[in-house]
Amino acid sequence: MRILVTGGAGFIGSHVVDRLVAADHHVAVIDNLSSGLKEHINGKAVFYRCDIGDTERLERIFAAERPDYVIHHAAQISVQNSLSDPLQDARVNIMGTLNLLNCCRDFGVRKIIYASSAAVYGNPEYLPLDEKHSLNPLSPYGVSKHTPEHYIQMYAGAYGLNYTVLRYANAYGPRQDALGEGGVVSIFIDRLLQENPVVIYGDGEQTRDFVYVEDLAEANLMALERGDYGIYNIGTSVRTSVNSLLEAINEINGSHARPVHKPARPGDIRHSYMCGEKARLELGWGPKFSLYEGLELTLKYYLNLYTGKGGMEGAGSEAF
Ligand SMILES: NC(=O)c1ccc[n+]([C@@H]2O[C@H](COP(=O)([O-])OP(=O)(O)OC[C@H]3O[C@@H](n4cnc5c(N)ncnc54)[C@H](O)[C@@H]3O)[C@@H](O)[C@H]2O)c1
Repeated sequence: MRILVTGGAGFIGSHVVDRLVAADHHVAVIDNLSSGLKEHINGKAVFYRCDIGDTERLERIFAAERPDYVIHHAAQISVQNSLSDPLQDARVNIMGTLNLLNCCRDFGVRKIIYASSAAVYGNPEYLPLDEKHSLNPLSPYGVSKHTPEHYIQMYAGAYGLNYTVLRYANAYGPRQDALGEGGVVSIFIDRLLQENPVVIYGDGEQTRDFVYVEDLAEANLMALERGDYGIYNIGTSVRTSVNSLLEAINEINGSHARPVHKPARPGDIRHSYMCGEKARLELGWGPKFSLYEGLELTLKYYLNLYTGKGGMEGAGSEAF
């Protein structure tokens, strides 16, 4: 099949691209490289350096590629940036997605798979979070990840565009940005390997649902065939405290780093984890990697990267 992946140079999108290429699909990547890396793009994918806000260019790419499926991962992902510049956040996450939806409509795309987030729920009213939980995003990012879900459903009703929305829990794994607001796993590993102090905000007993990136990629592949017109939480149904996360990383790394505690950040959610039952029943998806296995693979990746053995993967050539 012909599949177009936006954000395919990014952390999660690049793993999705790898899986699609391995399954012999024709894959095209759209990415403006604002946070993604060209080295992460699978060499067998066609790469278009393009901003999803660029309507004219997007139309030319759709005309050239004629994708059957679009898997949409391009986004502004920083909660902090969304607070300091909500307009830019909306420009990318809302207007960019609308641009993409128009192309899906105009070029007869069969289905769009959209990477949404647990951020759409806000502070949990009950746990685990299921898909029926009310939507009370706490940041512009949460709003800008949720708003496209409405547009997608509206385009399905009005133009017959099929969709699957995947609401991810906290992703971790190789290629995640360890700087800025990268995930806590990559930040902890980066700190440990650079022998810098590991900072935990608050007492560290706050919990999250950590899902390994290859499991997320697998959910996207399953959504190609199942989950039509559906919204799914993609999480492990397991809650892990930040303290025990650090303990596990220490154990795998053979280190004994003790965290530096700083005051809890205002607005931080105390506990969050997802119910994966709907995804299991309707997509046939469940996590294959335990946290320990996922952490082992992630640590190995960063160790190789920092000792220069990681090499640069992919680096597909650029199309127009
Ligand atoms: N990382 C997580 O824990 C997590 C959790 C829930 C949802 N998500 C969602 O998954 C998706 C991927 O996230 P990620 O963690 O891989 O982030 P990432 O920053 O690594 O990937 C995003 C990619 O989109 C590209 N991009 C950004 N703006 C663009 C634009 N205007 N035009 C074209 N490309 C653009 C970036 O260069 C990058 O390669 C996002 O939609 C994010 O909201 C991520």
